[in-house]
Amino acid sequence: MSNFVNELEQTARTMVGAGKGILAIDESSPTIKKRFDTINIESTEENRRAYRDLLITAAGSNAFISGMILYDETLRQSSSDGRPFPKALLDEGIMPGIKVDMGAKELAGHPGEKVTEGLDGLRERLAEYRELGARFAKWRAVITIGEKIPSTACIDANAHALARYAGLCQEAGIVPMIEPEVLMDADNTIEQCYAVTEATLKTVFNALYSQDVALEHTILKVNMVISGKQCPSQASVQEVADMTVRCLLHTVPAALPGIVFLSGGQSPERATAHLNAMNASNSHLPWPLSFSYGRALQEPCLQAWAGQQANVAAAQKALLHREKCNSLACSGQYSEDMEKAV
Ligand code: 13P
Repeated sequence: MSNFVNELEQTARTMVGAGKGILAIDESSPTIKKRFDTINIESTEENRRAYRDLLITAAGSNAFISGMILYDETLRQSSSDGRPFPKALLDEGIMPGIKVDMGAKELAGHPGEKVTEGLDGLRERLAEYRELGARFAKWRAVITIGEKIPSTACIDANAHALARYAGLCQEAGIVPMIEPEVLMDADNTIEQCYAVTEATLKTVFNALYSQDVALEHTILKVNMVISGKQCPSQASVQEVADMTVRCLLHTVPAALPGIVFLSGGQSPERATAHLNAMNASNSHLPWPLSFSYGRALQEPCLQAWAGQQANVAAAQKALLHREKCNSLACSGQYSEDMEKAV
C-alpha cells in the first residue's frame, strides 16, 4: 500500500473534476519536430520552450484544464517571467504531469508491432520528477491493427509494462495515467476496433490486478472505438459514442476515478463532438468521461502561432476556445454552433 493514499486519491479525483480535462503537451523531441515542420519552424530548444510557454500560461485555462502532461525537457524549463514551468502551472491550480515512458520500440519476433520501454531506472526517475513537481505520469502503449495483428504477445507485453509502471508510480506518490492506445490509422472497421480495444483493456486490467495496482488511484487514457482512417465506411458520431461507451462498460472497473480520451488524429471538432455525444446520451456512467487531447487541443493554436511572438495572443485564444468546447463536452453541453462563434 502506498504511503500517499490520500494524496493519490485527491490527485486522481482532481484530474477528472467536473468540466475539466487534461492538456497533453508531452510530445517527445521527434514528435514536436513533426508538429513544427507543419508551420516551418525549426525545433530548437528555445522554440520548444516558447511554444510550451504560450500553452502553459494561457490565462483562463484553469477553468477547463486540471492538468498538463509535460515532456522531460519541458519540466525543467522556465516561463519567460522566470518561473519554472511546474510552478507556473501550480500557481494557476493546474497539476503538472510527466510522460515517463521511453517510447514504443519494435517488439522482437513480431514485425509491425511495438512494445513500450522505460521501466529500467523508473523508480529513480519518478522520485526526481516528484521533486520537480509532477503529481501524475503518463505511459503510452501502442497497439496496431493489421493483418493478423495485434498478437497476444504484443498485448500481453504492453499490459505487463503498464502495470509495472503503474505500481512504481503509486509507490512514488504519482498517479499513473495508463494509456493503451489502439491506433486509428489503418483501414479497419469500427467493429474491429471494438474487438481489439476490448481485448486490450481486458488484458490491461488483468495485469493491473495481478500487480496489485490500486484502481482508485489510476486514470485510464484510451482511444475511442472508431473506424480506421483508411476505412471506406466511416461510423457516425453517435455510433462512435455508443460503441465506445459499450466497450468501456464491458471492460473498465467502476472503481476507476475517471477515463480520459486521446484524440489520436481525429480533427479537433470531431474529437469534441464524440466526447459530447458520449456524455449527452449517458447520464449514469460509473466514471466521468473527459479528455486528454494533444493534437485536438493544440492544432488550431499551433497554426495561429506559426512561430511568431506577435501571434501569441491569437494562438492562446484558439487554445482557450478548444479547451472550453471540450469542457462543455464533458457534460454534453457542446454544440457545433460554438465553432461558428470564432
Ligand atoms: P493526441 O490527442 O494527439 O492523440 O495525443 C494524446 C497523447 O498524449 C498521445 O500519447
